[in-house]
Amino acid sequence: MNKHFYIMLLSSMVFCAGTGKQFVRTDTLLRQWQFTQYTTDNAIWQDVTIPHDWAIGGPFDRANDLQEVIVVQNGESEPTWKTGRSGGLPWMGKGHYRTRVAVKKDKFYTLVFDGAMSHADVRVNGERVMYWPYGYNTFDCHIPSELITGDSVDIDVYLENKPQQSRWYPGAGLYRNVHLVETDPIHIPTFGVLIRTPKVSTEFAQVTVEVELCNGTDALTGEDIHVETEILYKGKTVASTEGQHSVAEVRKPHLWSPETPNLYTARTRVLRGEQILDEKETRFGIRSISYTPEHGFQLNGTTRKFKGVCNHHDLGPLGAAVHKDALRHQIAMLQKMGCDAIRTSHNMPAPELVELCDEMGMMMMIEPFDVWNWGKTENDYNKEFNDWWRRDITNMVKHYRNNACVMLWSSGNEVWNQVLPDGIGIVTQLQDLFHQLDHTRPVTNGMDQAMYVIHNGFGAAVEIPGFNYRTSRYEEGYENLPQKMILGSETASTVSSRGVYKLPAILKDNAIYSDYQSSGYDLEYCPWSGLPEQDFQLQDDYNWTLGQFVWTGFDYLGEPSPYDTDAWPSHSSYFGIIDLASLPKDRYWLYKSQWNTNEPTLHILPHWNWNIGDTVPVFCYTTYPTAELFVNGKSYGKLRHATAEETERLAKGEIIEGVSRMPEVAEFVVPEWGSAPRPELLPRYRLMWFDVPYEAGEITVVAYDAKGKEAARESIRTAGEPHHLEVIWANEDENPEELCYYTVRVVDKDGNLCIHAENLIAYDGEGFVAAANGNAACLDPFLKPQMHAFAGQCTFIIRKGEKGSFRIKHE
Ligand code: GAL
Repeated sequence: MNKHFYIMLLSSMVFCAGTGKQFVRTDTLLRQWQFTQYTTDNAIWQDVTIPHDWAIGGPFDRANDLQEVIVVQNGESEPTWKTGRSGGLPWMGKGHYRTRVAVKKDKFYTLVFDGAMSHADVRVNGERVMYWPYGYNTFDCHIPSELITGDSVDIDVYLENKPQQSRWYPGAGLYRNVHLVETDPIHIPTFGVLIRTPKVSTEFAQVTVEVELCNGTDALTGEDIHVETEILYKGKTVASTEGQHSVAEVRKPHLWSPETPNLYTARTRVLRGEQILDEKETRFGIRSISYTPEHGFQLNGTTRKFKGVCNHHDLGPLGAAVHKDALRHQIAMLQKMGCDAIRTSHNMPAPELVELCDEMGMMMMIEPFDVWNWGKTENDYNKEFNDWWRRDITNMVKHYRNNACVMLWSSGNEVWNQVLPDGIGIVTQLQDLFHQLDHTRPVTNGMDQAMYVIHNGFGAAVEIPGFNYRTSRYEEGYENLPQKMILGSETASTVSSRGVYKLPAILKDNAIYSDYQSSGYDLEYCPWSGLPEQDFQLQDDYNWTLGQFVWTGFDYLGEPSPYDTDAWPSHSSYFGIIDLASLPKDRYWLYKSQWNTNEPTLHILPHWNWNIGDTVPVFCYTTYPTAELFVNGKSYGKLRHATAEETERLAKGEIIEGVSRMPEVAEFVVPEWGSAPRPELLPRYRLMWFDVPYEAGEITVVAYDAKGKEAARESIRTAGEPHHLEVIWANEDENPEELCYYTVRVVDKDGNLCIHAENLIAYDGEGFVAAANGNAACLDPFLKPQMHAFAGQCTFIIRKGEKGSFRIKHE
C-alpha cells in the first residue's frame, strides 16, 4: 500500500479516537488510479498515484503547442512563432482516469477535486455527475444514492487539454488531490463553515461562526438539529458557541501574523439529540486587516508593505503535481530571503499551499484569472468566462475565506477589458460577488495599461489599484485615482540565468545571446519590465505604495522571454529570483539585503574563472553600509550605498566619491506603455566595482559596520578542474515528510565550485523522483535519474530514507 495512503487512513482513525466520538465523517484521499491517454480505442492502462502530471516526463519537443501568434501584451503587431511558450511538454490532448471505491448504502458521499486539468467530466458508474472546465479550481460533486447499488462504485474522470489553452505550462491530469468524503446524509457541505473575526484586539476577539447544513443534496429544513462549535487553540478549548449563526469570544487571543502564525481550530458538531451527525474542523486565524490612504495596509494595527513574489503553480521538475514538501521548500527559501507574501498568479492555488502559508506565516494574494472574456490565447478561459466566472469565484472564495494568510483577492491579471467599454461593469460585478462571499478582504486587479486605466474609470473602479510594471506611472496613478494607494501587483520581471555573466555588464532590454541565457548581473529586462531597484525606490520613498509582488519568486515552465520567439530549445522562464532547480540566482541576495531585516547579507558576484585580459565588474549585495573589494589582497576601494538624494545627482551625470557609478545603458526605445530604465538607482542598492582586471586567485569583499569596523567578509576563488561532487541536503531543516532536495555541486580538489562544469551527473540508487538544473534551454528529461550540471550545479529530488549515490557519468 502506498505510504501516503496509509498515513492518511491512520490520521482519520486517530482523529476519532482523540475525540472519543462516533465515527461520523471521513475524508479519504483517493490516491490510486488507472490512467490512459486514449489516442486509440485499445487503451493501455497504467497504474498511477495522484497527484499525477501526465506530461512532465516529456519528451520536450518544439512541436508541442507550437504557436504562430501575436502577443499583444508584449507589444507585438505581427504574428511570430512562439516556441516553448507553454513549456514544450506534451500536456495537450485527452486523458482518462478510473478507480473503484467502496461505499455504503446509508451514507452520503461527496467527491472533492482540488483541481483537475482540465475540462473535467466526472462519471460515477458511467453517469456524468459533474463537468468543470477550469483546471485550477476546486469543485465537488455527490455520488447520487441511486447509483449506490452494491458495495462499490466506479469513478471515471475524462480530461481534455486543448492547444493554445495557456500561455504557460498548465500541467495535465489529476495533478491535485481527490477526496472521497463520507458523511451522514445530514451534514455540513464542503465549504459549509464560515468563520470571521470582526473584532480583534490583544485583549479580546469576537469570532462569528456560520454553518450551512444539508440533507443529501438539499438544504436542511424542518429538522430538530442542533449545532455547536468549540474553538480550540493548541488542542485546548478556549471558547464555545451554539447555533448555525453564532458568536464566540476569545480572551487574550494569539494573533496571526507572518511573524506569529498562530492558528485556531473551530470544531463544529451537528447533533440530533445526543447523536452526532457530523463533525467538521475548520482552521482559522485571529487577525485584523485594513487598507486606508492614511496608514496603507495594516495587519493587526501595524502598517507594513508586501514584500511579495508572484509564482506560477508548477514545481519545476515535479510539474504541476502538487507536493507539500516541494511547496514547503519554496516557502522556506522565500522566507529566508525576507519575502512575506505570495500572489498565486494567475489562478487558484492548491489547498496545500494555502495551508502551509497559514502555518508558516506567508501572506497571500489569491487571483483566479488571467483573462475574462477576451482571450490571450485561442482556447484559454475566455471560452468559459461568461458561463463560469460566478461558480469559479464562489468556490475559490468559499474555499479560502477562512484562511488567515489571505490578505486580499485579485479579480484578474492584465485583462483586456481594462481598456474596453465593458471593463468597469465586469470588474464591479466581480467585486460585488467577492464581497457577497467575503466582505472582510478587498479586491485588487493587476493592471498593465496604466496610461489608460488611470483616466478611463477602470482604475477608479478597482478597489485596490494594482499596477503591473509601469513604474513611471505610479505618481500619476496616485494623483489621479481616488483610492490614494497603489499596490505593485506585479513588478520587475528582470531576466537572468544562475551563474552566467555577460560582458560588458550593461542595462539592456531584450538581450539575446547564442547560448540562450540571460546575464546573472541582473541588468536585463523585457520591453515592458524593469530592474528591482525601480520598485525598491517606489516602495522606500512613497508611503502610499502598499508593497510589491515581484515577477517571479521561482522560475516556471513556459514563457521563456526573451527567448520565446522561435528560440527553441528555450522552454522555461528566466524571470525567477530562484531557478527551476530551486537554486537561488544572485538576485536572491539583492532582495534579501532589502527585505530580510533579521540577519545581515553579504554576497559577492560573479565567479572568478575568467580569461587573462578580461575586465570584470564585481557586484556586492549587502545590508552593511560599506564594503571594500580586494583582489589577491589588493584593495579596489571602499564603496557605500548612495542616498536617495545622491541618486538624483548621479542621474545628472555627477560622479560621487565613495559611491558606485551608474551602469551604462544599451540603446533602447521606451515603448509608450513601458518605463525608461533608471540606472542612477542602482548605486543606492548595489555596490559595484566595474573595472576590475582579472587575475586568477581570490576576490574578497570586506564589509564594515556603521562605525567602520570590519563586520564580515566573503570570498570567491578561481576553481581548478572538476574533481569531485559535493552533495547538500537543501531541505533538511524543513523536515520533509517524503521528498528530499539534494544540491549536487561539481567542485575542484579544494571544494571550489567549478562554474563552467556541465558534467552529466547520475544517481544510482533507490527513490529517485526528479532532477533539474535550472538551464531554461536544457532538454534533459526531468524524470530520468541523470542530469547535466548547469553552472556547476543541479538538483535531485529523492524519496526520504532511500539510499543511493551520485557520480559523474562519462558521456
Ligand atoms: C506580465 C504578466 C505575467 C508574465 C509577465 C512576464 O505582463 O502578467 O503573466 O507574462 O508579464 O514579464
